[in-house]
Amino acid sequence: MAATGILLVLFLFAHMAGNLKIFVGAEAFDHYGHWLRDLGAPLLPHTGFLWLQRGGLTVAVLAHIFAAVVLARRARAARPVRYAHRPKVQGSYAARTMRWGGVIILLFVVFHILDLTTGTLNPVGDKQHPHANVVADFAASRWYVTLFYALAIVAIGFHLRHGIFSALRTLGQRTPRGERIARAVALVLSLVLVVGYLSVPFAVLTGLVK
Ligand code: HEM
Repeated sequence: MAATGILLVLFLFAHMAGNLKIFVGAEAFDHYGHWLRDLGAPLLPHTGFLWLQRGGLTVAVLAHIFAAVVLARRARAARPVRYAHRPKVQGSYAARTMRWGGVIILLFVVFHILDLTTGTLNPVGDKQHPHANVVADFAASRWYVTLFYALAIVAIGFHLRHGIFSALRTLGQRTPRGERIARAVALVLSLVLVVGYLSVPFAVLTGLVK
């Protein structure tokens, strides 16, 4: 879980950095989209890097889900008899929502690819001009799209807060001081991602980016 989760978090930071280029301007954002397609040339063919990344992300997501299922089964096998009485509060909200949070994130990614990669669900859907697609997506009249993105991004924030903390424990952090640091690191990284991702739809919604 930790190894695949870390790979996915690295992708999220790289993708956020790319998204923030929207604040530089339409040309810079579209140029970044074209650059992504020619990354690694001439060693890689056009869109070669993107396809490698798509393959890597798909394997990482599948392995992440597989590991989650194995761990959940192991936990159930370790306590086959259900608790007669289970106290309500068990860990943070983030820790208790990992499974459904993961499902929501997966559904969001499917929607997001149909929206901004293939353009199928986007009002503009012009692959050459990702800036126009993003601006059309988060227009005030389509507030429900912004709302859905915002909810998904907050769900990602919760998922990462517990995920990063758990990954650090898997990687060997054991002491009470280490735990405090891991908690803080997980919170700060998750907050940076949530604010970075949310800034784009809200900048369009408020007219800062047009
Ligand atoms: C408001 C936040 C976001 C914006 C504005 C945004 C924007 C975009 C855009 C414009 C593309 C198409 C890039 C291109 O083809 O040139 C894209 C692709 C993608 N985004 Fe996002 N994104 C956001 C959040 C996310 C999140 C939170 C995730 C993951 C959970 C994500 C995962 C992806 C993936 C997997 C692709 C497909 C990349 C590919 O073509 O292989 N995005 N995004």
